Amino acid sequence: MTDRLTIRRPDDWHLHFRDGAVMRDVVPYTARQFARAIVMPNLTPPVTTTALAAAYRDRIMAAVPEGVRFTPLMTCYLTDSTDAEDLARGAAEGVFTAAKIYPANATTNSAAGVTSIENLYPVLARMEAEDIVLCIHGEVTDHDIDVFDREKAFIDSHLRSLVAAFPKLRVVFEHITTSDAVDFVNAAGPHVAATITPQHLHINRNAMLVGGIQPHNYCLPVAKRESHRLALRAAATGGSPKFFLGTDSAPHLRSAKESACGCAGIFGAPYALESYLTVFDEEGALDAFEGFASLHGPAFYKLPVNEDTVTLERAQTSVPRCLHVTGEEIVPWHGGQTLGWRFLG
Ligand code: DOR
Ligand code: ZN
Repeated sequence: MTDRLTIRRPDDWHLHFRDGAVMRDVVPYTARQFARAIVMPNLTPPVTTTALAAAYRDRIMAAVPEGVRFTPLMTCYLTDSTDAEDLARGAAEGVFTAAKIYPANATTNSAAGVTSIENLYPVLARMEAEDIVLCIHGEVTDHDIDVFDREKAFIDSHLRSLVAAFPKLRVVFEHITTSDAVDFVNAAGPHVAATITPQHLHINRNAMLVGGIQPHNYCLPVAKRESHRLALRAAATGGSPKFFLGTDSAPHLRSAKESACGCAGIFGAPYALESYLTVFDEEGALDAFEGFASLHGPAFYKLPVNEDTVTLERAQTSVPRCLHVTGEEIVPWHGGQTLGWRFLG
């Protein structure tokens, strides 16, 4: 049995750092395990321009602990009035690594998102020409579509036609939650990939709704039924370069989660690698872990792989029930549970 695993240092291809004091307290968790992270732009106000992204990147860099090497990779929040010229310049200058579509009101801080994806086609054409990666939150927001069907509906009503219209545009279908998304990505060309979160590999929707409402298992897209979770596990551990690690770590204070209208988002950063590796171990797929965590993402984003390594060992790790950011309580993913792997650095 393998009791120690050393792999090239991974990257997190999707997460939320927030801003200000919360950001200063959460960045070290990610910088401890990952070399780089794709940073989501859904701040208030959102990161819509090169200037805003460059300033945000500086604030993140200032929060990286002394002696730690970590590079935030910035994204542009696409809106109905995105300036394609500014986006292209920001990408050329190395400020933007990708741009993000949030359908308006799909999730936290997405009110400024695009009201019609088709209206964005001129910007997407420019992105295709400049080879800028497009990240997509793939859920429709129509009130008459059941929340559990919103990802599949997005594939059928927008994503299929978008990918056909821009055959060279690199598209990351973010935090996929369904077998429909796995099938779509597998059937698409090599320019279409997906990130998968730890929570969607560990839980199905029962974890949110059985035995009382479990707000710490609530994120968007919501976890689906068990058959979907199994499809995600097969995709993540199956070795395909189209699937890679993206925690969607989304910190919200305990008070904001345990509320009459609890926020969507799971704070996955603190024990991210232990969480993913537990899944790969359960699936008998330790050999596939480095590809998913450290190789497929850089290949898709056309970035070099990291030179240094991290090691994890088979050992009981107790995840605290609660951590603190800005002096307030925050519940980490797996809070109060014991995982079978420990991150050694
Ligand atoms: O659960 C989520 N939380 N999903 C998202 O898409 C956004 C995120 C957040 O920013 O809190
Ligand atoms: Zn996210």
